[in-house]
Amino acid sequence: MTVIWTLLRLLRWTTDYFDGKGISNPRLDAELLLAHVLELDRVGLYLNYERPLNEAELDAIRPLVKRRGQREPLQYLLGQTEFWSLPFEVTPAVLIPRADTEILVEEALNRVDAEVGELLDVGTGSGAIAISLATELADWQVSALDLSVEALEVARRNAERNGVAGQVRFLQADLAQLPQQQYDLIVSNPPYVAQAEWDELMPEVRCFEPRQALLAEDNGLDCYRKLTSQAQNRLKPRGWLLVEIGYRQAEAVQQLFTAAGLQDVFVRDDYAGLPRVVGGCHR
Ligand SMILES: C[S@@+](CC[C@H](N)C(=O)[O-])C[C@H]1O[C@@H](n2cnc3c(N)ncnc32)[C@H](O)[C@@H]1O
Repeated sequence: MTVIWTLLRLLRWTTDYFDGKGISNPRLDAELLLAHVLELDRVGLYLNYERPLNEAELDAIRPLVKRRGQREPLQYLLGQTEFWSLPFEVTPAVLIPRADTEILVEEALNRVDAEVGELLDVGTGSGAIAISLATELADWQVSALDLSVEALEVARRNAERNGVAGQVRFLQADLAQLPQQQYDLIVSNPPYVAQAEWDELMPEVRCFEPRQALLAEDNGLDCYRKLTSQAQNRLKPRGWLLVEIGYRQAEAVQQLFTAAGLQDVFVRDDYAGLPRVVGGCHR
């Protein structure tokens, strides 16, 4: 007997398949993947439950379902994600921006009271932080730095897509040597996973996201050490350095900020109550 694959039947099959592969939101991922291939939104999906899928549609869906089953992140399969309510292209060259990183954007905006200024995003990846801040701070000059040429290409396209290409300058450099300039604000979500924590990461992260975006030497603290050691020379008076941290790193990073002479050092928790951002000011 020939099976007729209606949309609902395929959705249920895919959900069960993803569930069996240990994926955390199997139904949601199945819906988003099918909606993407069929060019429907999620409401459109519900309205088409009984529609039989043709061979071409099934051929387009099968390889993506298989790849997700192998734990490839959904965002890489869709080629995009959302951050700060803006659309961002993502490829395996960039870390997928996380919702928690919006806390860093919020804290940056909380500390800005001037109409104009200069800010630097260190380790920009997809450009998520720099571009979000550029959309909020229309008269600020934004620089976005990364070591990865491939990541900077994605970030450039994201700046265009979000209408801020003229406002953001992209720099290929090592964060150990920040540009010889002084900024009102330096923000960074640098690599901060310690080698010892590598095996704790989910397969989606460990096997698919760029290692260079995640791992840091010195028990995960290497980039914070390099950033804080340059902060006094790269910040204008009353300028802020704000960094995202791993939830176990608040104390160590605060100590680095204080040892570097930064003032008003603070920690901000994320919405799960875990320390997420450390900041300090150059006085
Ligand atoms: C955790 S990702 C953050 C990406 C993006 N800012 C975000 O929050 O989604 C860290 C980024 O730092 C970059 N990076 C790693 N080591 C670097 C270095 N030594 N100098 C400059 N950038 C570096 C990586 O290429 C990656 O894009």
